[in-house]
Amino acid sequence: MRDTLNYQGNDQGQSEPRPDQLAISDRDGNQAMNARIWNRRGFIGQASAVGAMLPWVGQTIAEDLAQTPGQTSGPFYPVPEIAKQPHSDADLTRRAADGPLAEGEMIDVRGTVVGIDGRPLSGAIVELWQACHSGRYQHQADSNQAPLDPNFQYWARLVCDPEGAYRFQSIIPGKYPGRTPHIHFRVVAEGFPELVTQMYFQQFGEANQKDGIYSRLSMQQKESVTVSLAKQEGAARLQGDFRMVLARAATDRATPPMP
Ligand SMILES: [Fe+2]
Repeated sequence: MRDTLNYQGNDQGQSEPRPDQLAISDRDGNQAMNARIWNRRGFIGQASAVGAMLPWVGQTIAEDLAQTPGQTSGPFYPVPEIAKQPHSDADLTRRAADGPLAEGEMIDVRGTVVGIDGRPLSGAIVELWQACHSGRYQHQADSNQAPLDPNFQYWARLVCDPEGAYRFQSIIPGKYPGRTPHIHFRVVAEGFPELVTQMYFQQFGEANQKDGIYSRLSMQQKESVTVSLAKQEGAARLQGDFRMVLARAATDRATPPMP
């Protein structure tokens, strides 16, 4: 098992993480969850959308997908709190499997991690962290006086399945001063530079547009990191899809293979 990100960033957006600021260290005690749940619907749908037929040769080519924009990791990546937290599985809505539920609107997010050529990145590690219903992070640097939710997990680490799919259950994070609701992500895939980004919710359109970090993005980039939640018939929770696209590896920035 590995990886604890050690980055001193700023959630107000004054500094973006540089690759040389991202240091990985070993750690134990976190269970990687393999989300072998999703089918290939999302990936296939995208692939067919970007593909183009060359009639004179009868071949299908695919244009590159747009890279998911990198965004600040903020100051609340759960270090050193991460070492104190025994639960890191895909269900953030409670800590122990039989424990009480966290407060907040429950969400069920699934997605894929792919390269810009659409290739699913099997085995990619997806870390995510967020505020609880009150808008507070479980982090010593968070001066927010809103109450912590003792039942919320705050953080998870997932491993993408062979089709690049991952899935987690959580709550819509609360607003905190200066930011629209968002979830932080860090993705590590062999042969690719790390991606640190944030996911937003379409339902907070006005707050999103006022957000200093979100508003820097182009329209296309905003669309790529904004998830529309909907409740399918019979589903207990709001559902959303969040695909992340990693750029091709540059030789001087490539993440070393996972041990
Ligand atoms: Fe944040």
